[in-house]
Amino acid sequence: LNVASHFMEGKLELVGTRPEALLKGEGAVIQWKGERAGAYKDDSGELYVLDTTCTHMGCEVEWNSGEHSWDCPCHGSRFSYDGHVMEGPAKQPLKKIAYSDTNEVRHLPD
Ligand code: FES
Repeated sequence: LNVASHFMEGKLELVGTRPEALLKGEGAVIQWKGERAGAYKDDSGELYVLDTTCTHMGCEVEWNSGEHSWDCPCHGSRFSYDGHVMEGPAKQPLKKIAYSDTNEVRHLPD
């Protein structure tokens, strides 16, 4: 799967794609060990993997590749690539997922 061309086709759902496959500055909704997750790789190559469940009322956020934000389709909350609230009504950041090559995905304590 070529992530770059996949993005150009406007498909953000990268089922089974590992976050390492992302290019620097790219984000995507991925499936990681059966869970929907949001992944972003910053310019230094650091990966951010988030729970895509909006902290307002539980809709699923989508990656906004133009703004580099996670946007909720339900009531307009927006989160930065690392999950911080940019616009409400959500008040809490997206949950981080501790991602690694070898360990099961688990949620970090808040
Ligand atoms: Fe996301 Fe309301 S559920 S803004």
